[in-house]
Amino acid sequence: MSRQQFLGLLGAGAGALTLGDYGLVEAATRLSDPASGGLFHLNPAPATIDLGGVKAKTIAYNGMLPGPELRYKQGDPLHVKVTNHLQDTTSVHWHGIPVPNRMDGVPGLTQKPIAPGSTFDYHYTVPVSGTYWYHSHSAAQNDRGLYGPLILEPQQEPLSYDREYTLVLDDWRDGVGRFRINNDAHLYECDIQTAAESQAPARASEGAVAVPTSYPYYLINGRVPASPQQLTVKRGEVIRLRIINAAALTHFRVALAGHKMRVTHADGQPVAPVDVDALTIGMAERYDVLIHADNPGVWQFAAKSLALGGMARAILRYQGSHGAPPPASFTPAEMKGRHLSYQMLHAANDVSLPEGKPDITIPMNMESRFGGFFISVDGRFVNASDGYIHLRRNQHVRFVMSNGGTVLPHPMHLHGHFFHVRTGARRGPLKDTALLFPGQTITVDWVANNPGLWMFHCHNLYHMLNGMMQTFKVT
Ligand code: C2O
Ligand code: CU
Repeated sequence: MSRQQFLGLLGAGAGALTLGDYGLVEAATRLSDPASGGLFHLNPAPATIDLGGVKAKTIAYNGMLPGPELRYKQGDPLHVKVTNHLQDTTSVHWHGIPVPNRMDGVPGLTQKPIAPGSTFDYHYTVPVSGTYWYHSHSAAQNDRGLYGPLILEPQQEPLSYDREYTLVLDDWRDGVGRFRINNDAHLYECDIQTAAESQAPARASEGAVAVPTSYPYYLINGRVPASPQQLTVKRGEVIRLRIINAAALTHFRVALAGHKMRVTHADGQPVAPVDVDALTIGMAERYDVLIHADNPGVWQFAAKSLALGGMARAILRYQGSHGAPPPASFTPAEMKGRHLSYQMLHAANDVSLPEGKPDITIPMNMESRFGGFFISVDGRFVNASDGYIHLRRNQHVRFVMSNGGTVLPHPMHLHGHFFHVRTGARRGPLKDTALLFPGQTITVDWVANNPGLWMFHCHNLYHMLNGMMQTFKVT
């Protein structure tokens, strides 16, 4: 059976599968075959998903939540054929991957929205390795079920470990009880198209999208805490966890009871290994960590919502350990231990980071007004007559991002490029998303070496929908 048939079968039955001891993620992990051109069929469609005793009427890729784990090798072709079975238009964005602009999946900006019933082919050569994810960039679809992990393997894996698990965190409210997410795809596409003509603050007051004030569930790999995925390990093994925050509105604090985590990658890119007890992960960020399985038992892997309270979890279970899992709300003591900060992260690669003085420095402030959220640049909301901020190809750009005007954290994401977070003395991490807390300023440097139209926005989906974005035009 080919990988595709295999995944197709999984997809068809996913709603009814019981994950048991071996998670769907592990089962779905198959490397794509370059001989097939890396072809994979992704089918966004209405679906009823079993979150572990809770049924959600939502939309999903191939009937699965998260969407199927796509795995490719760096340098191989990726070809994902997206056929839209929804009633609304859709799109797929390959978060963090420096793809050619027309493959970036931003409707109204880099492509026409994928109309109901039609197909769009995303194809590119996989340019990087690491832990990424894909998600719809249309309306609020990624707060519904339209997201999945995308694992890009290096040609030669430099890390050694015995097994790995992908852990996709999410906040969930779609299609359970009284909760519904409005899927007005039209709204967002219009926003993009009219960015040039209208001033941002005016836009939000017209069509503000309500920001959710509660999420009934927090999920890891599509499972509610009452029915968590079990991650089976053997004593003595080294386990790689790929942690992806796919939530729309929730940043999490993550810890594994009884174990330290050795952080090896941030946003897919290698860092000098650093041992921590806990880490905070903003929306769209990823961390890869290694765990030394040297403490047999049944342990809580917990992700605590720092926005609205509540917790997601998975269970690390050693073979031969038969105890009952801790209560769903159990908070590992490690949560209060040594905590990761960007200052502790140093890019491990010989990445081509810009040296010396930037060609252009762009001061930005995060602001909240008229019920919307905005990024002002040099005190203004729109910066040129066409609405884009213009950059010359290969310019060394510096963003000085301040969160001076809001009381909320903002995970700021740049499309099509990595940036280098300036943390002080030593070389900071290479990232595509930086979590900016209230009152904080983060400076990042990047080289505008990927021509096209690129969004820069807050990855709080509701902040983005309410205006928290700018667009860069690299020519
Ligand atoms: Cu995760 Cu505009 O992207
Ligand atoms: Cu925000």
